[in-house]
Amino acid sequence: MTFTGVGLRHGERTVLADVDLALTEHRIGIVGANGSGKSSMVRMINGLVRPTTGRVEVGGLDVARHTRRVRSAVGFLFPDAEHQIVMPTVREDLAFSLRGSGLPREEVERRVGAAMAEFGLADHADHPCYLLSGGQKQLLALAAVLLTEPAVVVADEPTTLLDLRNVQMIAGRLAALDQQVLLVTHHLELLRDMDRVVVLDEGRVVADDAPGPALAHYVQLMTGAAP
Ligand SMILES: Nc1ncnc2c1ncn2[C@@H]1O[C@H](COP(=O)(O)OP(=O)(O)OP(=O)(O)O)[C@@H](O)[C@H]1O
Ligand SMILES: [Mg+2]
Repeated sequence: MTFTGVGLRHGERTVLADVDLALTEHRIGIVGANGSGKSSMVRMINGLVRPTTGRVEVGGLDVARHTRRVRSAVGFLFPDAEHQIVMPTVREDLAFSLRGSGLPREEVERRVGAAMAEFGLADHADHPCYLLSGGQKQLLALAAVLLTEPAVVVADEPTTLLDLRNVQMIAGRLAALDQQVLLVTHHLELLRDMDRVVVLDEGRVVADDAPGPALAHYVQLMTGAAP
């Protein structure tokens, strides 16, 4: 995916400026201070936020012009999985991901069953989603996204509400994906084995490098400490 001359303004506030990125690596991390523009930037990838200037392309398609096609190729995970869960039970929520897929009912059931087994949700198949733990909700959201077979997975702080065990579980699942993964996180340890880390500050890309130097730049920015 590419960002070309991307800027975003809300009234007088400049949220993003001069963002030029060709994001081709398999695993890319994005880090930056609160309010630096990370969520605004990644939400442009599926057209949830429109750039004021410039263009975002996914798979060669301009997101602004081909929003529907791009959305079907991009799986999005939000910090609070509750916003993503739409059906009353785990099984129904996963099956909902495959609505309109044209798959026969038995195949939908097979895929939903496989997803529940893979994500440790089989014992909760007919459980009300609201009773799941925070980590289980994130696993459900990730499973639901993956059922749609997206080409790209964008995860905006998917581990923020989770305990260490669930952080590692979600990180491990994301790390194992064949798809391109874009991960926004304040958990620096999750960024150490990325292929590339982009650092945003006040709406601009201030570092774009291997994890070592990019994270050193970020730590210095945040703490004033020498890298
Ligand atoms: N719809 C909007 N209207 C006005 N300002 C907005 C809007 N959306 C975002 N902003 C502002 O844009 C800036 C960047 O917000 P954004 O959510 O992209 O930051 P972030 O880097 O994801 O921060 P965090 O780490 O806290 O999630 C913030 O100052 C925010 O208040
Ligand atoms: Mg954010």
